[in-house]
Amino acid sequence: MAKSVVIVGTQWGDEGKGKIVDLLAHGVDAVVRFQGGHNAGHTLVIDGHKTVLHVIPSGVLTPRAKCLVGNGVVVSPQSLLKEISGLEAQGVDVRSRLGISPACPVILRYHEALDAAREYKRGKGAIGTTGRGIGPAYEDKIVRHGVRLADLITEQRLRDKLEPLLDYYNFLLAHYYAQDSLDVASVVDEALAFGEALSPMLTDVTGQLHDMRDRGDKILYEGAQGALLDIDHGTYPFVTSSNTTVGGVMTGTGMAPDDIDYVLGITKAYATRVGGGPFPTELHDANGDAMAERGHEFGSTTGRPRRCGWLDAVALRRVVRSNGITGLCLTKLDVLDTFSEVKLCVEYAGVDEFPVGAEEWNRVTPVYESHPGWSGSTQGITDRTDLPEAARSYLDRIEALVGVPIDILSTGPERDANIVFRDPFGA
Ligand code: GDP
Ligand code: IMO
Ligand code: MG
Repeated sequence: MAKSVVIVGTQWGDEGKGKIVDLLAHGVDAVVRFQGGHNAGHTLVIDGHKTVLHVIPSGVLTPRAKCLVGNGVVVSPQSLLKEISGLEAQGVDVRSRLGISPACPVILRYHEALDAAREYKRGKGAIGTTGRGIGPAYEDKIVRHGVRLADLITEQRLRDKLEPLLDYYNFLLAHYYAQDSLDVASVVDEALAFGEALSPMLTDVTGQLHDMRDRGDKILYEGAQGALLDIDHGTYPFVTSSNTTVGGVMTGTGMAPDDIDYVLGITKAYATRVGGGPFPTELHDANGDAMAERGHEFGSTTGRPRRCGWLDAVALRRVVRSNGITGLCLTKLDVLDTFSEVKLCVEYAGVDEFPVGAEEWNRVTPVYESHPGWSGSTQGITDRTDLPEAARSYLDRIEALVGVPIDILSTGPERDANIVFRDPFGA
């Protein structure tokens, strides 16, 4: 029986990870974020009520589960405190269940200013970031001068680190980017107040997870973004600044490879991407419009329209192999219910090897396989054999192309709109 399950997005994010984390969180002891930050927008729909989570793990609406934020997550205290109070206003107890690693890099106002300034400077080549300061916060970490949550609780320690940093970035903002600089004293005061508010929730997340694993507790790791947005393995430089792939669990929590029993890859039945960058199977036609409309494809964090296209089985096969994916959860199949034809990209023409970056990705011409649509509702079906035959063969073909089974099928945004063929926790 699997005790530790990792959820990873297998495309460019927004595959429906939040919904599936919420589904699987029942009976789980901890749900853990390990990378990314509040660039994530994970949607949960329970009895018609929609909740969008950004940094708080998607187990928060399941009463028993502890919610842990590992050291790999970049934390904006301002956004996190707002998220906590938003949930509390709905009567959800957050503070007693939330544990955050003191080693998390902190996102402050200057990171957002830098994110915006860099995007502006990139002009037509802009990445289309969420503007949340994610890249600049990870930069600070990798350069080794970043402020971590632990630094916010001791005034002198914070001043010693933050004041010279703000001096440097203010110079950059004013003299290189020609933008307004920030008032050092107010940023420091704000940071100290954030530290005070968050300090009761700071805890040794790694140690807690070690103890839980040793006790045989159930742990669910919640990835953010998707494998094709991974800083190393994605469509660089049109990616996010973290390892969104399975290795992020180890570096972002301090767990070991054999602490993982099952990896669930979340895959939309088609593909979407928000922001700039290569997207070989993107559609600019009525089918793409229908996906956007039927799938309500607007960003959960920024509200931007998502670009839509056919499912890319070549990229998916690569992602399955690189992440050790045990099984897939295919989401939003219902969005394709009205389509008369459904296509799958089964080969890349124009490149000899799997693309390594945007330049190579832009040379890809997708080779498609056409499948008949099922023109019938897949919503509410609870047995694979009850699915329309054409939908079943679409699923069979995806499994054959990528080499792993579809263990869960999601057929609607609601928590209970699923067919679970095999429970990742083995229950
Ligand atoms: P995440 O970032 O991977 O958690 O995904 P998002 O929440 O950003 O986007 C997924 C969207 O699709 C949300 O609005 C979900 O409510 C919705 N959704 C999830 N699964 C399904 C499904 O099977 N069918 C439909 N129609 N919508 C779904
Ligand atoms: P979830 O967890 C979809 C995209 C941005 C941009 C790129 C870099 O909800 O799936 P960043 O702000 O991270 O520096 O932006 O990554 N991006 C996402 N796209 N879903 C997300 O998260 C995303 N998080 C970042 O649109 O293209
Ligand atoms: Mg999302």
